[in-house]
Amino acid sequence: MSTVVDRPGKIVEDWTVWEYDSVTSTNLVAAELPAWSAVRAETQTAGRGRFQRKWVSDRGGLWLSAVVPTPSPNGRILPLLAGVAVCDVLYGLGVRHLRLRWPNDVMVLDRKLAGVLIDQFRPGLAVIGIGLNIDNQPACYDATLENHIERLADIRPAPIPIENLITVLLRRIRSLVQPLTAGDWTPLLSRVNDLWSKGRRVELDLDGDIRGGWFAGVDDAGRLLLQDDVGASTAYDPEKVRHLTEMPEYHE
Ligand code: BTN
Repeated sequence: MSTVVDRPGKIVEDWTVWEYDSVTSTNLVAAELPAWSAVRAETQTAGRGRFQRKWVSDRGGLWLSAVVPTPSPNGRILPLLAGVAVCDVLYGLGVRHLRLRWPNDVMVLDRKLAGVLIDQFRPGLAVIGIGLNIDNQPACYDATLENHIERLADIRPAPIPIENLITVLLRRIRSLVQPLTAGDWTPLLSRVNDLWSKGRRVELDLDGDIRGGWFAGVDDAGRLLLQDDVGASTAYDPEKVRHLTEMPEYHE
C-alpha cells in the first residue's frame, strides 16, 4: 500500500478526496479513512476484483474507492446501490445499452465497462471500490479480457475530465446512501431490478453446486431470484452465490 499522499486531500463537495499516483489497491488505502473520504489512484499494482481476482488497473482508467457509513446491518443493499450509482452517472454521460449483471458488473451489451468491489474493514463503514475502463488497455495486460471488456473512450469519443467524473460519481453515491440510513430500500430495489437483463438464462455457482434457471432480479430482502421453466421462483442469499454465469443468448 502506498504511504505517500501525492497531493493533500482535497474537498470535493461533501467529500475529501485523496489522490495518488500508484497504490496497491485504493480500497486498502481507504480502509483507514473516515466516512465520506475517497481515494483515487492513476494505477494500482495489486488491484482487487471480486472473489480474490486480480483487477488490471493500468493508467487511463478510473480506480476509485469511497468510504460510506453502512446503511443497514444487512450488507446486501450496498453492492446493488453501487452498481446503480455507476449506471446513473454513465447514463447521464450519454452511454447507452447499459445494464447490470448481478450483482454489480456494469455492462454495455455483453462487455464489462466497470466493476465494483465492496469491502467492510471496520464496523459501520464500508468501502465502495469502483473500477471503470476509460482509455486504459486492460487486454494488453491480460489477453483473456480481449472482447470481454468495454472502454468509455470507445463508446463515447469526447473525453470526459476524470475530475468531473469523480465529482458526479461521489455526488450520486452520497445521494443514494443517505436515504438508506432511514432503512427504505424499496425505491432502490425497483431501480436495480430495472437495470438487470431479467429473463436471461443463467447458472448460479453455490460453491460448487450449480443451479440453472432464468434470472428474475432480487426480492424485497435483496435475495437473488431464479425461475425454473414453469415460472416458479427460488430465492438465494447473495452470500451463498459464488458466481453467476450468463448463458449465451441464441437468436434465430
Ligand atoms: C470486480 O468486478 O471484480 C470488481 C472490481 C473492482 C475494482 C476496483 S478498482 C478500485 C478499487 N480498488 C481495488 O483494488 N478494487 C476496486
